[in-house]
Formats: sequence, structure tokens, C-alpha cells
Amino acid sequence: MIGIGCDHGGFELKNIIIEYLKKNNIEYKDYGTYSADSVDYPVYAKKVANAVASGECEKGILICGTGIGISITANKVKGIRAALCHDVASARLTRLHNDSNILCMGGRIIGPEHALAVAEAWLGTEFSGDERHKRRINMIEE
Ligand code: RB5
Repeated sequence: MIGIGCDHGGFELKNIIIEYLKKNNIEYKDYGTYSADSVDYPVYAKKVANAVASGECEKGILICGTGIGISITANKVKGIRAALCHDVASARLTRLHNDSNILCMGGRIIGPEHALAVAEAWLGTEFSGDERHKRRINMIEE
């Protein structure tokens, strides 16, 4: 289950990502916001981060205008490793090395086609499981 959330700056891109998830039969839960009206991104970052940290969702996708505010907030929740990615290489590497559990993007920064390629790379890459990466992730948790 993928938890997805956004603020008004990410609303349009969230809908595009949801269409992609539907088309690919990927189960998701939409934590809002549900319109383009101005809202506060920490509310939605917290909802998705808590859903991932509690195990209700396996992973999450968060989108605001830049992706920055929503990623800063998500990373305040224990157990969350939120990665702000606007390129495919970073999306792959953060799964391989950081086992990131939330992907953040900026709806005002990245175009829809590119965002879909980033999301596809992130969703489709497993954590490498290498000892050195596990050790570093444990250090983050500590
Ligand atoms: C909202 O205007 C904007 O500040 C927000 O979407 C995000 O970019 C914050 O980091």
C-alpha cells in the first residue's frame, strides 16, 4: 500500500501520480489534500509519514510546491527516511542505499512526465541490503 499526500502546490501532480498507480494496479491510499485550495503542507506530511511509520502503508509519496517543506516535515517522524528526488538516478540510489520509505517531489519544480519516471524508478527499486548501507541506516535511527 502506497500512502500519497500533497498540499495545493502538489495537488495537480498528485492526481497524475494517482492515475499512474491506478493504471499499474498499485494499491494506494490518498491522504489529501483533495482540492487546489491553499492548505498547510505539514498536515499532509504528518498523515503520510505516520501511516508509513506505523506500517499502515509500506511506502509513501508526498508532493508540495518544491518538495522541500513536505520532506523536512516527514523526516521529523521516527523511522521515516524521506528523499526529495527530481531525477531518476537519485530515485534509484536512494532506494538502493538509504532504503528511503517516502519519495518527495515538487509539483512546481518537475514536469509530469519526468515525475512519473522518477516515481517509477523509486517504486521499482529494492533496497540493496548491503551491510554498509544497513549500518548507516541504523546510525540514522540511533
Ligand atoms: C506553498 O505555497 C509552498 O510553500 C509549499 O508547497 C512548498 O513549496 C513548501 O516547501
